[in-house]
Amino acid sequence: MKAFVREEAIAAPVMRSNIDTDQIIRIDRLIEYPRGELGPFCLEALRYDSAGSERADFPPNTPRYRSAGILVAGENFGCGSSREHAVWALVDWGVRAVIAPSFGDIFYANSFQNGLLPVRLPAAEIAAIAQELEHASSPLITVDLQVQTVTTPTGRVLSFEIEPDRRAGLLEGLDDISMTLRDRAAIERFRRDDEVAHPWIYRQTEQPIVKKVLILAGDGIGPEIMAQTRRVVEWFGTNRGVRMGVQEELFGISAWKAHGHLMRDQTWKAVTESDAILFGATGSPEYAFIPPEHNKFDQLLRMRKELDLFINLRPVRAIKALAAASTLRPEVLEGTDMILVRELAGGMYFGTPRGIETLPDGQRRVVNSMVYTEGEIARIARAAFLLARSRNGRLCSVDKSNVLENGILWRETVEAVHKAEFSDVELSHLYVDNAAMQLVRNPRQFDVIVTENLFGDILSDCAAMVAGSIGMLPSASLSAPSDSGRKALYEPIHGSAPDIAGQGIANPLGSILSFGMCLRHTFNLPQEADFLEGVVERVVTSGARTRDIVEAGAPFVSTVQMGDAVMRELEQSSSK
Ligand code: IPM
Ligand code: MG
Repeated sequence: MKAFVREEAIAAPVMRSNIDTDQIIRIDRLIEYPRGELGPFCLEALRYDSAGSERADFPPNTPRYRSAGILVAGENFGCGSSREHAVWALVDWGVRAVIAPSFGDIFYANSFQNGLLPVRLPAAEIAAIAQELEHASSPLITVDLQVQTVTTPTGRVLSFEIEPDRRAGLLEGLDDISMTLRDRAAIERFRRDDEVAHPWIYRQTEQPIVKKVLILAGDGIGPEIMAQTRRVVEWFGTNRGVRMGVQEELFGISAWKAHGHLMRDQTWKAVTESDAILFGATGSPEYAFIPPEHNKFDQLLRMRKELDLFINLRPVRAIKALAAASTLRPEVLEGTDMILVRELAGGMYFGTPRGIETLPDGQRRVVNSMVYTEGEIARIARAAFLLARSRNGRLCSVDKSNVLENGILWRETVEAVHKAEFSDVELSHLYVDNAAMQLVRNPRQFDVIVTENLFGDILSDCAAMVAGSIGMLPSASLSAPSDSGRKALYEPIHGSAPDIAGQGIANPLGSILSFGMCLRHTFNLPQEADFLEGVVERVVTSGARTRDIVEAGAPFVSTVQMGDAVMRELEQSSSK
């Protein structure tokens, strides 16, 4: 398509209204003649009489206007049927611009796709131009798209308006498709980001509708809280049509006792095949009695690493009814709603060299390493920026760049990703010590926080006080999305709490809310996730409290009773 920048040309008046696309080119000509050869037939009913002779009274037939490259026309030029052939015919005839008070909408749009500039000017101006064309020494008009002006035969300069995209396309001679191709890189970048945010839109292969959910209750209070979570999971399967196959495997100390392995091969296979793992807790004093060759690595960390679950989302919301359960003042908590994004597959937890060695002088020496590549920092930063973009648009990155090189590279990389891809998100930085203080001083200031693995572990416990109790906090650990879905593990952020294990008093809500995150991120059912979160909020608002969230001296419910309360509220809310 030819670019249109500035054209100085003879302009011919064709001052009638409602010249429609059928008048511009007759349909039968389109069947006989291809694009490029339509010029002789453009406006033929106006140019020729029935005998095929040129009409002498049609201005473009007169010597003064014969070589016109611009038409000055009446109202509603190009109205009627939507064929873009009308524009082709004009272009084939040598017309580069049409100046009129108004155009048929589709003709107007087609013009830009085919290298013709339609210029809208007020009817009174058009009438004046037509007069000038008749009387000026030469009927020359200049149309300048760059500065959006028409210079009339007497030298008057008139401005016209044009949509920026359309102007840009014509200036470069690019139709929509060529513009799309030109912007390929930007579009591809958008697609990549959007795919992370909305993976289900991009899935190429049909997904099995039934998702595989693996329950690993694990150690300590894990089995107690998971028993209640399982009731909720099954309720969603039965009552809300969430299609899943649920399998449960022993994990940790119970697996050791039953099979002689903390995670036997069969369980590992189920781990790698599942779409979502609902995890209870890991950790027990009994690990001390397991022979070291069976306890070489932490099985939870193994899942995080091998499934590449590098995105750990830890949402923290202040629930009004639980304000008294926090040691922070209610006015400090109120309105807090943030998500901590913890890098989960790198950093201090996995870095090498690591270990305890005995030095020649007999004393022991320990090494741990906080290791990150730029790629590892950039991918977690991207996930956090995307999340911030979908929320309130603010991201705070936490590091220790005043002391650690690790923090320097962290900050530089986050800034580079920000500059290149997310300048619309407001980015701030805090040192981790200050971040810990800010979390309890004024948690409301945060929208999304992103930080490395160890810092995230520490800060998320700190942030738990905002939710009243660590027992309330869910988490999701996700891999990058892919065509075949993503791997995910959902767990409450509290640990195995061996001090209260087996007493039936643990709070199952963090685990139940983790299943809520599973509804959101694995099943892509945000409305079901919102529903479950609402249910949990109503349960605590109506007064059900486990020991960790009860006011001093008040009665508290057991783990099972809390499960009962959630089940009752699910039933009631869903029958409304
Ligand atoms: C957490 C826990 C785990 C961690 C432990 C149990 C390994 O504290 O998820 O925050 O340190 O990551
Ligand atoms: Mg922790």
